[in-house]
Amino acid sequence: MDVKTIAVMGAGTMGHGIAEVAALAGFNVFLRDINDQILSRAMDNIKWSLQKLHEKGQLREDPAQVLSRIRATVDLAEAVKEADFVIEAAFEDIDVKRQIFTEVDKHAPPHAILSTNTSSLPISEIAAFTSRPHAVIGMHFFNPPPLMKLVEIIMGNATSRETLGAALDLARRMGKEPVVVNKDVPGFIANRVFLRLSDSACLMVERGEASIEAIDSAARYSLGFPMGVFELLDFVGIDVMDFIARAMAARGVSRVPCKLIEDKVKAKELGLKSGRGFYSYPAPGKYARA
Ligand code: 3HC
Repeated sequence: MDVKTIAVMGAGTMGHGIAEVAALAGFNVFLRDINDQILSRAMDNIKWSLQKLHEKGQLREDPAQVLSRIRATVDLAEAVKEADFVIEAAFEDIDVKRQIFTEVDKHAPPHAILSTNTSSLPISEIAAFTSRPHAVIGMHFFNPPPLMKLVEIIMGNATSRETLGAALDLARRMGKEPVVVNKDVPGFIANRVFLRLSDSACLMVERGEASIEAIDSAARYSLGFPMGVFELLDFVGIDVMDFIARAMAARGVSRVPCKLIEDKVKAKELGLKSGRGFYSYPAPGKYARA
């Protein structure tokens, strides 16, 4: 399949990052969200990121050239009508996904593959909203998409081998390292493994066995992680990881209740985005716009 045009549904942190990655790889991109304010902020964030990459000599072309390949629109039908590949990165709510996939299925060309960047919802359930479940697949990117190499490619119950091949090819053309998740399991790979880690870290702090800082040092300097466990929770959003963990628990993945996380969510100390989480972020940090 010769993919030329990609439509990204949702212009939040993940959506605009994915649109940027697609434009960087030379694709024509339509970026769709529900209002102009969200789209304008998304385009500003993309400009910021492209400028960063340019300053570091990591762009082969002018940032304006890359940007010119992205068209922002609130019109879903317009966004998908020429799309060969759709990547949905909207809010993690099955009703929102139902609405989007029903509409996308109606307006996208018959050959288009429909993918979802969901981190917590079953691919097969989302595929069932369309008339083409064989052409629906999970493509789970990581934050920040322009810097993170990994993409999990998740097979739904009905996903065809052709769709898998096209998704793998697309991820590689986007400069990513795809890994295949053969079954539609809760949390896929990375979140599944990370949940066990964050549960253990959380319990150790609750029992007074080690401090947040000590655990993060161990993660960075012994386990070789780029960020500590609590740093990463702050970076992703404590509420986001809590939501993912709950969604996994609802699908049978046992979870250790962690008061530390519950308290942070209740206090709205959600991490980097709210200026305070397990650590404090007094000024907009260098990742504040990622
Ligand atoms: N575009 C361009 N540049 C960006 C950027 C973006 N979107 N975001 C950050 N940068 C820049 C920073 O501004 C900084 O620039 P500077 O050097 O001018 O200050 C630079 O990139 C990174 O600088 P650092 O050398 O300080 O950072 P690192 O080398 O540590 O790399 C990192 C940053 C790639 C974010 C690294 O810390 C990392 O890999 N962290 C882990 C992130 C991770 O695990 N993400 C996955 C989260 S889980 C998820 O997304 C799944 C979902 O389901 C929740």
